[in-house]
Amino acid sequence: MAKNKNNQAIWNTRIKKKASSLFEKVGSSISIDKRLYREDILVSIAHVEMLFKQKIISFKIKNKIIYGLQKIEKEISKNKFEFNTKYEDIHMNIEKRLFQIIGEEAGYVHTARSRNDQVITDLKIWIKSATKEINNHLEKIIKSTLKIAEKNIETVMPGFTHLKNAQPISLAHYFMAYVEIFNRDKRRFMNNLESLNESPLGVAALSGTSFNINRSFTAKKLGFTSPTNNSIDTVSDRDFVLDFLFCVSVCSMHISRIAEELIVWNSDGFNFINLSDKVVTGSSIMPQKKNPDLLEYLRGKSGLTFGNLFSMLTILKGLPLSYFKDMQDDKEIVFKSFDTLINSLKIFDEILKNISPNKKKMYELADIGFSTATDLADYLVKNNSISFREAYQKTAKIVNYAEKKKKKLRDLKIEELKKIEPRLTSDVLKVFDLKNSINSKKSYGGTSFENIKRMIMKYKKEK
Ligand code: ARG
Repeated sequence: MAKNKNNQAIWNTRIKKKASSLFEKVGSSISIDKRLYREDILVSIAHVEMLFKQKIISFKIKNKIIYGLQKIEKEISKNKFEFNTKYEDIHMNIEKRLFQIIGEEAGYVHTARSRNDQVITDLKIWIKSATKEINNHLEKIIKSTLKIAEKNIETVMPGFTHLKNAQPISLAHYFMAYVEIFNRDKRRFMNNLESLNESPLGVAALSGTSFNINRSFTAKKLGFTSPTNNSIDTVSDRDFVLDFLFCVSVCSMHISRIAEELIVWNSDGFNFINLSDKVVTGSSIMPQKKNPDLLEYLRGKSGLTFGNLFSMLTILKGLPLSYFKDMQDDKEIVFKSFDTLINSLKIFDEILKNISPNKKKMYELADIGFSTATDLADYLVKNNSISFREAYQKTAKIVNYAEKKKKKLRDLKIEELKKIEPRLTSDVLKVFDLKNSINSKKSYGGTSFENIKRMIMKYKKEK
């Protein structure tokens, strides 16, 4: 067996010259992938347990290796481990240290595997728990959103299309839209579990191994459901990374949209919401200012996550199958996207807890712009047996009239309405009431108060 002197690269028997220091600096990924140390040790332990079960290594060697690996884990978690860029990555750093702790028998740990399968097994396990962590934060956001919704079932606001007043809605209905969005995000992350549950371990460098290994054993031990099917595809595949980055991008795009919305609502023009002092910042020159900087941070950060998705797509584009160093960057990209999203989720939850709606302003804006015009058209269809298109034209005439007279629809007298549609009676006047309008939207998924209450109940029960 080749001697592994601790200050030398593992491949020093074949490659005689030291790597140029520049390459050592740029080629080393230890500063990034040390974050995978727990997963790497877990994977190595499962691997040697399998090697022993398959009678490839002895009981004694297995135990020695596991002892060494557990010691290393403690060292790293207590910050007592010295990472060395010379050993490139987390796998080699751990293996080197294993030699120092248990001696030459450490050389058995890498039987029937390669860093190519090791690194993606580590990363898949890491992404699985990252997915859970993200979903926990999404749960928190859903909870905070439900709280706001519960308090605002009868809070009237204008619903917009094109940011122009469209129809009155309940503020709770608006926030329940966010609940749908974040639930969908949760599901999107969960959908990735199918591919994340296939274990790459044991495909070795690219073609499998001649050792009689048991990939189902390690798969099960590591919480995967089954081993992957094709060794070449397995070491080449980073689709699970793309899927994760895509989900992160979509989620941060959602946060960005909502942040923009809240920035608009917080503007002096709208003045729909107040943000407590905990989530605003001041200006260095304008003493009166309270700026929604945190919301702007959230809006901006989506750019980073989209960029990361595109970086990864670009790295993979044009890359023939099997392993290439190009792919090493996947971890930095994944970690950055994850960290950014976690920060954004935490901040967003904090903002939700520090928002208060300005109900008066919301009502006042909902009350202008003829937002109950559709209700009048609907009334005409239901009560005067005319088609919707005819009712639409009649209503448009009534709106034109009201606009000319500088009146709101609900300020029109029944006599004035009758001039345009003689069959109308004073019963029609109720359709101009904003709450009545909201509550009439009883179709499934609509803004009626009962619908909202039912939806809040449904999501609270799911918690
Ligand atoms: N640090 C490497 C990476 O993340 C591990 C795989 C190295 N494999 C190799 N054939 N050089 O991609």
